[in-house]
Parts: sequence; structure tokens; C-alpha cells
Amino acid sequence: MLIQIKNLIKTYQRHNENINAIDNLSLDIPKGSFVTITGASGSGKTTLLLILGGLLRPTSGKMKYNGKELNLQKESEMATFRSNHVGFVMQSFALIPYLTAIENISIALNVKEKNKEKNRKRALELLDWVGLADRTTHYPKELSAGQQQRVAIARALANNPYLLLADEPTGNLDPKLSEEILEVLKEVNLKQGTTVVMVTHSPMAAEYGDTKIQLKDGKLIINDDNTK
Ligand SMILES: Nc1ncnc2c1ncn2[C@@H]1O[C@H](COP(=O)(O)OP(=O)(O)OP(=O)(O)O)[C@@H](O)[C@H]1O
Ligand SMILES: [Mg+2]
Repeated sequence: MLIQIKNLIKTYQRHNENINAIDNLSLDIPKGSFVTITGASGSGKTTLLLILGGLLRPTSGKMKYNGKELNLQKESEMATFRSNHVGFVMQSFALIPYLTAIENISIALNVKEKNKEKNRKRALELLDWVGLADRTTHYPKELSAGQQQRVAIARALANNPYLLLADEPTGNLDPKLSEEILEVLKEVNLKQGTTVVMVTHSPMAAEYGDTKIQLKDGKLIINDDNTK
């Protein structure tokens, strides 16, 4: 198992109100699986994704990554976990507007590897892989929505994450572009063995998962795991 979650609770406190965004959730995520998460707005999907990626600590419960309890780690170790293991793709593409496609990817690589030429090659390879070899020097505003999302995916994959977390990666896209993005994610999953966890509102997109889970009020109401 890549991830084992047991009795996870996340309570947000606002003024005098407590919101149980994740309410006693237990879930196993096998290595190499493609998990899709659906559920109504406010059901806790993004919260769960942020906890999985080590960006948010749960209020209680356990979460093991590769057998190691993650939430007992120091903040510096969480940061190492995030940069070595996790890639994020968010609904709004979060590309840097004044950098070209290739620069948006290189910047993620430059953090770790100082050899600029090596990073440029790797960024090109990634852009080629998502079908954008002929758009490397385009700025985000010169790319279509689907192309911007593909740059965001290439960037998330820059450091070869074991775990790719995607929050509504097709939320802003039409059906054809959505399918393109989903195919890229499926390929990452199958060819690289990357474990993918994707939040989606679309039943069509959810079908891409080999494990399909549904949340309601922070609880797991469906866990359709076809990997076993
Ligand atoms: N930082 C926060 N402080 C207080 N409450 C929060 C915070 N973030 C989220 N919530 C609440 O927690 C619940 C779960 O939010 P979350 O963002 O995980 O839902 P979601 O399933 O991703 O919804 P959507 O489909 O609309 O993106 C919601 O009721 C939300 O209002
Ligand atoms: Mg959300």
C-alpha cells in the first residue's frame, strides 16, 4: 500500500463553529492505482487531497505513506516529502503568467537540480510528452485552456512524483479537452506507475479510476476498488 488512512478527522475551526470536513475516514490507496474522488461541493474532497499531499495536517487519525506515519513528522520532513514524492495539479492552472511554457516547468526543476541545460532538456521532454513540443516559448495567455492544463501537468510531473494529486483538473475544460487531459493522466499512471488521485465532478472522468470513491459530509460512502 502506498497510503493507509485510518479514522482520519479534520475539523476546521472558524469563530465558534467547528466544521468536520473529514469525518472518521479510513481508506487504503494501493501503489500504482488511479483513484477518483467524487462528492457534492463541500463534502471534503479538496481537504482530503491536501492531507494526502502533506499540505494540511489532520486533527486526528493516522496516515501512513509507504508504511511510515506521516503526520508525526516535523514540518521540514513534510516539505521534503512534498518535494520528493508529490505532484499537484489544481483546477486553476496556477502557471506563472510572465514565464513561457518551458520556463514554467524549468522553474520546478531548478529548485533541486542546478544544471540549467539538463533542466531545459527535461522540460522539453515533458512538454513533448504532453503534446506541446511546438508551444515551448508560448506564454500561458497564448495557450488554450487545455494546453495550459497540460503545461500544469508537465510541471507537476517534473520531479517524477510517486503520487500525483489532481483537484478537478478538467473542471474548466470542454469535453474534448477534458478527455485529452484524462488520457495524459491515465498514461502517467500506466506508463510511469505513478499513483494518481483525482477529484472530479464529472461521472465520465470518474470512470477513469480503477478505484472510485465518493464522499458525503466528510465520510466515505462508496469505495469501489477494482484493483483487488
Ligand atoms: N480553511 C477552512 N476553514 C474553515 N472551513 C473550511 C476551510 N476549508 C474548507 N472548509 C469547509 O470544509 C468543508 C469541506 O471543504 P472542501 O474544500 O474540502 O470541499 P470540496 O468537497 O472540495 O468542495 P468543492 O467541490 O466545492 O471544491 C466545507 O464545508 C468548507 O466550507
Ligand atoms: Mg474542492
